[in-house]
Amino acid sequence: MTQGDFALSFPETTVRGGPHADRFRALIRQMTGISLPPAKIHLIEQRLRRRVAAFDLPDTESYLQMLMDQPGMDEELRHVIDLITTNTTSFFRESAHFDMLAATIIPDRIARTPAGQRPRLKLWSAASSEGAEAFTMAIVLAELQRRGMAFDYAVLGTDISNRMLHRAAEAIYDDDQLSTIPADLRARYFLTGAHPSVAGKARVVPELRRKVRFRHMNLMDDRYGVDHDVDVIFLRNVLIYFDQADKERVVKRLASHLAPRGYLIVGHAESMVVRDAQLTQVKPTIFQKI
Ligand SMILES: C[S@@+](CC[C@H](N)C(=O)[O-])C[C@H]1O[C@@H](n2cnc3c(N)ncnc32)[C@H](O)[C@@H]1O
Repeated sequence: MTQGDFALSFPETTVRGGPHADRFRALIRQMTGISLPPAKIHLIEQRLRRRVAAFDLPDTESYLQMLMDQPGMDEELRHVIDLITTNTTSFFRESAHFDMLAATIIPDRIARTPAGQRPRLKLWSAASSEGAEAFTMAIVLAELQRRGMAFDYAVLGTDISNRMLHRAAEAIYDDDQLSTIPADLRARYFLTGAHPSVAGKARVVPELRRKVRFRHMNLMDDRYGVDHDVDVIFLRNVLIYFDQADKERVVKRLASHLAPRGYLIVGHAESMVVRDAQLTQVKPTIFQKI
């Protein structure tokens, strides 16, 4: 089947000028913080086609009306959130962040630990998608341990997309997703199986999986239910979807979860939006709690 056939098998959609589109954008904004500019509605329309077809509805307008006006649509809304979020991620993405983690952030944190205590580091991937960022952190920390640094650590990954969280918890990746991981680390931290069902895939080793937990969390929530002594928070490539007021609120809330001198790391397109009295900028995309 060609891509064209596949697309044609779904109903034509009419959301662009439809009366429910604005209401839908407002609902998504309120639920997720994600601003869907009218120009992006075409993209969303395509992503929703399968849901329109699943309910055997004639067009996207009817689907949106059902979604917003019919009771009992909570589960369906979760599907929609899965579909409208952009989940692009990769291992060692913006690798300078991981270099700084290994070279400066973790060694400094360990050096600050009072004598006689074993450091216990907490790291958080606050929009973890399918887990590549959280597992990259864990790989970097495991490598430091291998080189003789003594500490314990735990990584938390949170995201609004249940579909991504499910994948993250499985920790199974296609070979092409592993291409950004140096070969020696890939060999050390991923397992491949002989069974044909896992051909072309690899799974994170259990020792690393035990260090990383994933759970659902909406950055728009007033409270995050996370410890307030986190050493490093990665908040990368998610602020770009929020409007300025939400960006500031999210940064402020996350900063309140950092330990003194803890770090907040954002994506390269996001450094300009971080303005918070609790944080000082140490590199263009790296902020430290005062
Ligand atoms: C582009 S991915 C970034 C993944 C990773 N941080 C990286 O930089 O590779 C953005 C992620 O943010 C998540 N997201 C969007 N809105 C969110 C919200 N309100 N709360 C939590 N996660 C959200 C999406 O589900 C998606 O997985």
